[in-house]
Formats: sequence, structure tokens, C-alpha cells
Amino acid sequence: MKGVILAGGLGTRLYPLTKVTNKHLLPVYDKPMIFYPIQTLINAGIRDILVVTGGNNAGEFLRLLGNGKDFGLAHINYTYQEGEGGIAEALRLAEYWAAGDGICVILGDNIIEKNIVKAVESYRKQGGGAKILLKEVPDPERFGVPILDGNHVVKIEEKPKKPGSAFAVTGIYLYDGGVFEIIRTLKPSARGELEITDVNNAYIGRNGLTWDILEGWWTDAGTFESLRRATNLVAETGANRLD
Ligand code: DAU
Repeated sequence: MKGVILAGGLGTRLYPLTKVTNKHLLPVYDKPMIFYPIQTLINAGIRDILVVTGGNNAGEFLRLLGNGKDFGLAHINYTYQEGEGGIAEALRLAEYWAAGDGICVILGDNIIEKNIVKAVESYRKQGGGAKILLKEVPDPERFGVPILDGNHVVKIEEKPKKPGSAFAVTGIYLYDGGVFEIIRTLKPSARGELEITDVNNAYIGRNGLTWDILEGWWTDAGTFESLRRATNLVAETGANRLD
């Protein structure tokens, strides 16, 4: 399985911090934000990694990460997203590189306490389709929110005013090679983006989506509040634990 880290977009919710740099280069406690999703993939045994960058200062990713020596990697792949066309648009840039293989996609601002080893293993056994990871949160209206019927995800709503459950769809997704075919069918949402939630709903429509609960704490870091929360959580308990 290959890993894709989406670190494009303009990070406008963090202005002026992101006026002269890419959001994923900002510090979260003692490391640049992008270090955490890279470690999440490596801890799951995924060493073939593509970083999708974007915006200004994308060249700094090369200076920071190089070929991934600090992570024990021999090589890191990079590509560049122009503009801020959405998460699914950024993912589309991985098609050529993924070459039909299964992929684990992680948003560059998603940080976790533990690891995703079990979910990756169970996705491998699933033999195709998609898997998402859910986490109960106090503020689901900020995220993609699943509507559940027993064990079945009926639908995912993006940032609903009235959330249909207390869960967030975290920014960690497992897909088969069919994901790029789905992305080609998407239309921009009201916020002008190709939405990852529409990708996941397409898998639900094909009866091909499973889900697990993510263990340990999870946070994004794309707003001042969540960036502070991420820094505090990492400082207090550490991130990407393997136990
Ligand atoms: O964090 C999980 C949430 O992420 C999910 O629950 C939502 O369903 C999903 O839409 C997303 O919500 P956000 O609105 O918080 O995503 P945001 O625009 O902050 O983008 C998250 C990351 O995705 C960002 O750190 C980099 C990447 N991205 C985003 C956009 C818009 C790109 O690479 N390119 C883009 O054009």
C-alpha cells in the first residue's frame, strides 16, 4: 500500500500565520506539522509516500524533508497543487503515482495520539473499496459527519448545521484504485471545492465503504483553536504512539 499526504491549500483560516508559509510547515509543539502525518504512515508500515504540496513556499518541503532520511526513508515523492480546489482535487494529482495500487490518504493537518496499524490491516483484508476512520467529537459540525444505521454508514454530510451523529470523519482514508474514477465524476461544492465527502458518499453508493473507530485522541490543526489544541495534546501526551 502507498501513502499520500495532502498538504496543499492556502490555509486561509490561519492568516496571517500562513501568509508567507505553508500551513503544514508551522510548528506543532516541537516539530513541523507535516512530520506527524508522515510518522503516522510510517508507523502503519507504509514507506512509499507522496506529499502533495501547494501554495507559496512549496520548495521549503524539499529543504525540510529532503528524501526522508530523518524518518529512515530512502525517498519521498512530491507533487504540486495549484490553487485550493479541494481535498479531492489534491488527491487527483496522485493518480499517476498510485498506478492502481491501494492508498492510505492522510490530511497534512491531522495529528493522532496512537496509530492506524489495525485499520490498515483490516483494509488490506477487505480487498478493495474504501475505509474511513471515525472519532466522537464535541463539535461534529466542523467536520464530515456520518449518519449511521446500526453498523452501516448511510451517508456523510459535510459540516452540517445539525449533525446527524456525534462522530467526525477523520482525515485518514483508505481507497482502492477506483478512487480516481470517482474523482473524475465530482462537481465543485458550494464552497467551490471537490469534496472528499462526495468521494466517500460515492463509495457508500457502491456498498464499498467500511469504517473503524480511531483509537486515542485525534485533532486537526487548521484553525487557531485546533492548532493550540494540537500543540497542547502533543506536549502533554505525545503523538503517534505505537502501543
Ligand atoms: O480534518 C478532517 C476534516 O477535513 C473532515 O472531517 C472533512 O470532511 C474534510 O472536508 C476536511 O475538512 P476541512 O474543511 O477542515 O479541510 P481543510 O480545508 O482544512 O483541509 C484539510 C487539509 O487538506 C489541509 O491541511 C491540506 C489538504 N488540502 C485542502 C484543500 C482545501 C489540500 O491539500 N488541498 C486543498 O485544496
